[in-house]
Amino acid sequence: MATEQIHSASEPDNYSGYRSFEIGKFSFRRDEYFAHIDWPSGQHIMSIDVFLRALQRDVAWNFFYGTVNFDAVFGTLNHYGNVDMFAGRFNEGFRDGGADFNENFESDELMASFKGMLDDWTNAGYDPFAAPMETDKPYGRKNGDNKAAINRLRVTAERMVGVPGDAVPRSDETGHPINRAFLDVDQSEPVIEAEPGFENEVCGFNLFAYLSRSDVTWNPSVCSVLGDSLYCPTSEEFILPVEHGNDRVEWFIQLSDEIHWDVKDRESGSPRAKVVMRAGDVAAMPADIRHQGFSPRRSMLLVWENANSELPGMIARGEAPVTPVEF
Ligand code: PHB
Ligand code: FE
Repeated sequence: MATEQIHSASEPDNYSGYRSFEIGKFSFRRDEYFAHIDWPSGQHIMSIDVFLRALQRDVAWNFFYGTVNFDAVFGTLNHYGNVDMFAGRFNEGFRDGGADFNENFESDELMASFKGMLDDWTNAGYDPFAAPMETDKPYGRKNGDNKAAINRLRVTAERMVGVPGDAVPRSDETGHPINRAFLDVDQSEPVIEAEPGFENEVCGFNLFAYLSRSDVTWNPSVCSVLGDSLYCPTSEEFILPVEHGNDRVEWFIQLSDEIHWDVKDRESGSPRAKVVMRAGDVAAMPADIRHQGFSPRRSMLLVWENANSELPGMIARGEAPVTPVEF
């Protein structure tokens, strides 16, 4: 459980203009190119673009399911209410060398620190959600901020998407242009012929048109909920900014184009599989792996999550399998 926390931010550095952050026994510093992370038994350096893209996802996803590895060394592990921040914990070399470290925080406290760091370290014109070709560079000395990008919120539907009163803008009302890679995506909305009296309940919408206008990458949104079954479509380009170690089985349905997945052992990081998914392919990612996707051009992916909060415990205790099917 959480120990007493020390969170502090320094004055801006005289040269770089960035603040440093102490969070528990970790300290974080950025310079023109890198994030530097120190903890009592070791230290680490990450390219600032990789660090900020990962930090942005961890913040936007509220630490997500299971493990969010920023890279092979640093990350967070969600316990839903409290969260571990670790270095080297899921890295055999760091563990063998005794350089690994883990500290537990109240989720709200760590989130507040992460948000402060993301805000201070993101410069004007740089959008950590965007594909690298669609944003400015993150490097250099401190230059303004980009609060609009890092604080953007997903659209929240008031009712099931498509029915009157859902409060979701239709494709052409989003204010977002169709992405350059999706100019050929049909924008027409489906024709619904409901029985009289059901016009308010029978619905449909063009998900492809909606995704074609997404201005972010690698950011699944919940688009349908049925019990614990969550459909989370997303548009992808370049590299998934984190190596996700799930605490449950998760399904991928490749809706367009292709994504190459690197699948590694969740605990050690040793390689387990390469999965190339093309439009129409379906895959189940086991609950004992970490994975990272590579999308050579913008693509559409449906992530299907099971939000049942009992699952991580059942899997950890061996009461539920780590794969959906045993052959
Ligand atoms: C995942 O880790 O499962 C994941 C995260 C973000 C995406 C797609 C997949 O956009
Ligand atoms: Fe995942």
